[in-house]
Amino acid sequence: MSRLIVRPSGPLAGELVIGGAKNSALKLMAACVIAEGRYVLRNVPRISDVDHMCELLEAMGITTRWREDGALEIVRGAAVVSEAPYELVERMRASSAVIGPLLASSGMARVAMPGGDDFGGRPIDMHLQGLEALGAVFTLEHGVIEGRAERLVGTEVVLEYPSVGATENLLMAGVLAQGRTTVHNAAREPEIADLAAFLNRMGGQILGAGSPVITIDGVDDLRAVEHSVIPDRIEVATFLSALGVAGGELLLRNVRADHVDLLIEKLGRMGVRISPDVDGLWAMASGRPRPVDVATLPYPGLATDYLPLLVALLSYAEGTSYATENVFSGRFRYVGELARMGAQIRVDGHHLVIDGVAQLSGAPVRALDIRAGAALVVAALGADGPTTIADAHHIDRGYERFDERCTSIGIDIERLD
Ligand code: EPZ
Repeated sequence: MSRLIVRPSGPLAGELVIGGAKNSALKLMAACVIAEGRYVLRNVPRISDVDHMCELLEAMGITTRWREDGALEIVRGAAVVSEAPYELVERMRASSAVIGPLLASSGMARVAMPGGDDFGGRPIDMHLQGLEALGAVFTLEHGVIEGRAERLVGTEVVLEYPSVGATENLLMAGVLAQGRTTVHNAAREPEIADLAAFLNRMGGQILGAGSPVITIDGVDDLRAVEHSVIPDRIEVATFLSALGVAGGELLLRNVRADHVDLLIEKLGRMGVRISPDVDGLWAMASGRPRPVDVATLPYPGLATDYLPLLVALLSYAEGTSYATENVFSGRFRYVGELARMGAQIRVDGHHLVIDGVAQLSGAPVRALDIRAGAALVVAALGADGPTTIADAHHIDRGYERFDERCTSIGIDIERLD
C-alpha cells in the first residue's frame, strides 16, 4: 500500500490539463456492452477505476486496449458473458452500471451487489425499481442480483430522488426497449448528458438529458462509435482548492466552465480569483480564504464530491463556515483525519461547523476514499510540517498521474511504496 508525503507548498504556478471525467468514462465503458462493434473512447483518464472497469469488461468477454494515441479501444463481439463477479464488483461501485446494458442487450444480468466507497448505505434500489418498471424481474441470492427480461418495454418512471446511477442505468436500458421510456426527476449531472450524447451517436433516440425529464424512444439496433469524454469537474475543484490553500496562479486547460459555474462562484466568495480563458480557467489566490457556507445538492447544485476539498480549504478560513452534506448520509469520515491535523470542525448531523485556523499541523493521516484522500493533500499544503497520507491507492482510483501533475505546479509531494 503506498503512502504520500506532502510538505507545505506554495505559491503554486503553472498550467495543468484537466483529464476526462472518471464518472463519465466508467459509464461510457459500460455502455459499450450494449452493442457489437469497435468503440474508440478518447480523453479517458488512466486511473485505477478505469483499469477495474477494463477488467470487468474483459471478464465479460469484451476486449479493451489502450492505443498509442492514448484512446481506449473496446471491442464487443457477438456474445457477452452476462455476469459481473464479486471479486471485480466489490472494488468499484460503478460496476452496477452494467446491469442496464446487459438486460437491454442480452436479457440477462448477474451482477454481485456493488461495494465502493463507504459513505453510509449506498443502495441500488432505485436502479432496480426503474428497471423493473421496464419489465425486468430481479432476484437476490448469495449476494448476487440476477435480472431477467425478454424485451424491455418503455414506460413512465418517476425516480424518488435524482440518482445519477439509476438515471444512467435507465438510459442504457431504455435505449433498446420497445416504445418510449420517460424518466421523471432524472439526474441532471453533465455525465448524464455525456452518456446520452454517446448513446445518441450510437443511434439512440434520447431527448432532454441534462433536464429533469428525459424521454428515450427505444430503437432496434445500435452501432459502435467514437466519442470523447467530457472534462472532470472534480479535478478542477481539487486543483482550485489546492490553490486556495497554497496561493499562487494556475491555468487549468480542458475545462468546461459551464459545468463548474457554482464552484467558481463559491470559490470567488472565498477570495480565489477565477476567470474563464479560451479553453479553460485562469485562477489566482493569496492569503487566507474568507469563510463561506456551502451545501451539496444534486446538479446543478454544488457537487457532493467537491465538499471534502472545500472543507479542507475552509479549515484555513478567517472565520466560521457551515457546510451541509445533502447527498450521502455518511460522508464525513474524512473530518476525523482533518481533525488529526488540527482542523477545528464540529459534526452536527449532516452539518459541519468549521472554525478556520491559520495553520494546520502535519500529521500521519489516512485516505478513506478518492476525494477524502485528495482533501488531505489540499489540507497538507498549508500545514507546519510534512503530512503522511496512508492508503494513497484511493487517490489513484480517481486521479491520473497525481504526484507528477501536483509536482509540475509546485506541490511538494513524494510517494513511498
Ligand atoms: C455517482 O454516484 C458518482 N459515482 C459519485 O462519485 C457521486 O458522488 C454521486 O454520483 C453524486 O453525484 C459514479 O458516478 C461512479 P447517486 P451514485 O445514485 O450514482 C442514494 C466519486 O468519488 N441512492 O446519485 O452512486 C444514495 O445512497 C464518486 O467520484 C439510493 O438510495 O450516486 C445517495 O444518498 C463517489 N438508492 C444518493 O441517492 C439508489 O438506488 C445519490 O446517489 C441510488 C442512490
